[in-house]
Amino acid sequence: MSPFAGRRIVLAVSGGIAAYKAVEVCRRLVDAGAHVVPVLTEAARRFVGEITFSALASERARLSLFEDDDPIPHVTLGRQADLILVCPATARVIGSYAAGLSEDLLGATLIATRAPVVVCPAMHTEMWEHPAVQDNVRLLDERGVTVVAPEEGRLAGGDVGAGRLAAPESILAAAAEALAAGAQASTRDMVGLRVLVTAGGTREPIDPVRFVGNRSSGKQGYAVAIEAAARGAKVTLVATVRRPLPESIELVLVETAEEMRAATVDRLPADVVVMAAAVADYRPTAPALDKIKKTGEARTISLEPTPDILAELGCGGEVGTLVGFAAETSDVLANAEAKLRAKGADLIVVNDVSAPSAGFDHDTNEVVLLAATGDRTTVPLTSKRDVARAVLDHVATHRAAH
Ligand code: PMT
Repeated sequence: MSPFAGRRIVLAVSGGIAAYKAVEVCRRLVDAGAHVVPVLTEAARRFVGEITFSALASERARLSLFEDDDPIPHVTLGRQADLILVCPATARVIGSYAAGLSEDLLGATLIATRAPVVVCPAMHTEMWEHPAVQDNVRLLDERGVTVVAPEEGRLAGGDVGAGRLAAPESILAAAAEALAAGAQASTRDMVGLRVLVTAGGTREPIDPVRFVGNRSSGKQGYAVAIEAAARGAKVTLVATVRRPLPESIELVLVETAEEMRAATVDRLPADVVVMAAAVADYRPTAPALDKIKKTGEARTISLEPTPDILAELGCGGEVGTLVGFAAETSDVLANAEAKLRAKGADLIVVNDVSAPSAGFDHDTNEVVLLAATGDRTTVPLTSKRDVARAVLDHVATHRAAH
């Protein structure tokens, strides 16, 4: 059966030359059985008339917050939608959405919905590569919005470069995937669960200005926390870095392994703990109280082991399902198997942090889930949010079996 059959999709069209391609996307969605409601910005109507969309879609095109009897059309559209597809998305629409602005019907509907959103940027290369646009796109991605990256090709005015709207096939594939993920998340299989997640790299002071640290950005741990909250869990995130986060998640900022241990242990018991943080294994034995002066002499810093939080939780009995990560660069699976046993976890998520586009700071990751039951699941290179989904699917299976 078509993934679009019977699904209600708001096709949000903003004003760029690529608006004419949204007509084809609209037609294909309707052909695939979707109920399509077009929403056009004023600028979109300068490129394609609303009659074209009204004729092809399942309902007439909507143009304004104030055009008919419904006093809250954005809320009605947002609530009824299974998916919102912004195609094409201009730099203005992307920026407004990232900033939470609701300046027209399209913007207000995006803010008023809990449905999955797919954004398909299209603009000139200079605009697409502008740091402000890239920051906004990253922010949307971190919030769980699917961004279908534009392609290289012919642009308005005869220019050629990156920024051309993705092909209809790529847009429809992303929309189908977002619908499937939305349906999965809407099962809200973690309602009533208390979930603790750790994220980011700890910083162990050498002196007041220097530390022993690592390259963890916190992206993977944040993705787990956001996914758990989307599934209905009450989530606490103990992190060393601040990133965008839904308000429902309690954020506890810490710096060192000892602080992370205290913040985590203080919040037990928990139904699920996911230790995605890169916790330092060693810390300076005696951090200097004042900044260490340069003398020109070689220096040795003495290190002592930090508390092993995961291992402590593994033998404490206050955690329903305990998930650790393993960051490896050699003998990846063998080392991770050893950690699974040594730390008493129910699941270890192993990433080869030397692999391209995986591990520290990337937006993507590639992992193997090693369960204490002996099960192994490979998650090929994908977004950190998808990795989070796979991890929590495994948690659900573990909980169902115990
Ligand atoms: O943050 P990102 O930039 O998105 O990168 C993600 C990541 C690479 C940090 C993440 O995917 C990851 O692998 N996290 C675990 C990093 C790590 O510390 O791995 P480890 O193999 O050294 O530790 C194994 C497990 O023990 C981890 O769950 C760790 O949180 C935990 N641990 C480690 C040491 C310690 N003293 N206490 C612990 O609890």
